[in-house]
Amino acid sequence: MNFLNKNILLCVTGGIAAYKSAEIIRLFKKNGADVRVVMTESAKEFITPLTLQAISGNEIHDSLLDVKAESAMGHIELAKWADIILVAPCTAETIAKITHGRANDLMGAIILASKASVFIAPAMNMNMWLDQSTQENCKKLSSRSISIIGPADGEQACGDIGPGRMVDPENIVELISSSIKIGPLAGKVITITAGPTREQIDPVRFISNNSSGKMGYALAEAAIESGALVNLISGPVSIDTNKSVSLYKINSANEMLEKVDELMPNTDIFIGCAAVSDFKPSHYYENKIKKEDLNVIDIELEKNEDILSHVAKVYKSSYVVGFAAETKNVKENARKKLLNKNLNMIISNDVSDKSIGFDSDQNEVNLITKSESIFLKKDKKIRIAREILKQISLNIN
Ligand code: C5P
Repeated sequence: MNFLNKNILLCVTGGIAAYKSAEIIRLFKKNGADVRVVMTESAKEFITPLTLQAISGNEIHDSLLDVKAESAMGHIELAKWADIILVAPCTAETIAKITHGRANDLMGAIILASKASVFIAPAMNMNMWLDQSTQENCKKLSSRSISIIGPADGEQACGDIGPGRMVDPENIVELISSSIKIGPLAGKVITITAGPTREQIDPVRFISNNSSGKMGYALAEAAIESGALVNLISGPVSIDTNKSVSLYKINSANEMLEKVDELMPNTDIFIGCAAVSDFKPSHYYENKIKKEDLNVIDIELEKNEDILSHVAKVYKSSYVVGFAAETKNVKENARKKLLNKNLNMIISNDVSDKSIGFDSDQNEVNLITKSESIFLKKDKKIRIAREILKQISLNIN
């Protein structure tokens, strides 16, 4: 199981199985997730907020109308923060509430406002579960892509034997893990370029740039999360990648181009995130240039091939995404580039802003296609990357 970089919001409602929610949190956390917990008032009758706070390592969210709580992390922020929402245990009342889109408490409002994948693990007396209204509500929820986990059969707290027990924490977490593996880009091959290139002058000197490669590596990570098969062609940077990424290290723009041409015939989506050097020295000195030999050194530069334009021209069936690092007229210049290079999408950012520039862990971008422009406000590069992948998947599916 792998929930690395996943934000999971666990909503605990008022059923006896609430005591098992502590174990659910522990399992998510053990597998890399960041977990936040929303409790309804009745959930607190079954397990204390202090317990869940201690296990999740985050404060409990329990109120929609508490000014202090809302200013710390409001319901809309929580809704946006979550990649996955799990309601466990989920009572009959909560099922009815979600079915009807009620937003009269924090949990209801978050579920309405969020685009996260929602899972519910019902837990109730068997007759309540089998009642027609609960069954009809669940049918409606399934048709709205809310996944219902269980309930399991067995002995219930009230002594009845039948369906209504909450599925065991281990199984809930397993099921969610396998269901998120089938992401929106499952089976697609994505080739990403990242980092700078190095254009050698002699064996020890080169021309390069400030690219850290962080955005490209974040895209590779997000692409894996979305179920794709990922090729990452990277200039010289030292960042770890997910083991599932096929990593190809190159130095020069020419080497990058060669690798791109090798991988493109089997690529569905190309993302050119590398800061490819626009120029290379026309002449390569086989031996180190000795400073004693020269007072002035003329290095003639010639243009490198534009890899991105080349890909858009030659591999027409692929979806091609470029980046535009600009320092002024950011959006207009990016839009021009989108058209000139004949791209499907361009991501523009303002590299004159140091807080989102080359070596930063954050970015703020405009995502531009021929028909729309979406502003992604300053956030961690991995989150920006996830949103870019999400938009790509919406455009190609
Ligand atoms: O035209 P400009 O260099 O600003 O365009 C940036 C975009 O083009 C980036 O996506 C970058 O990866 C790509 N590019 C390329 N080959 C080059 C120069 C830029 O693929 N030689």
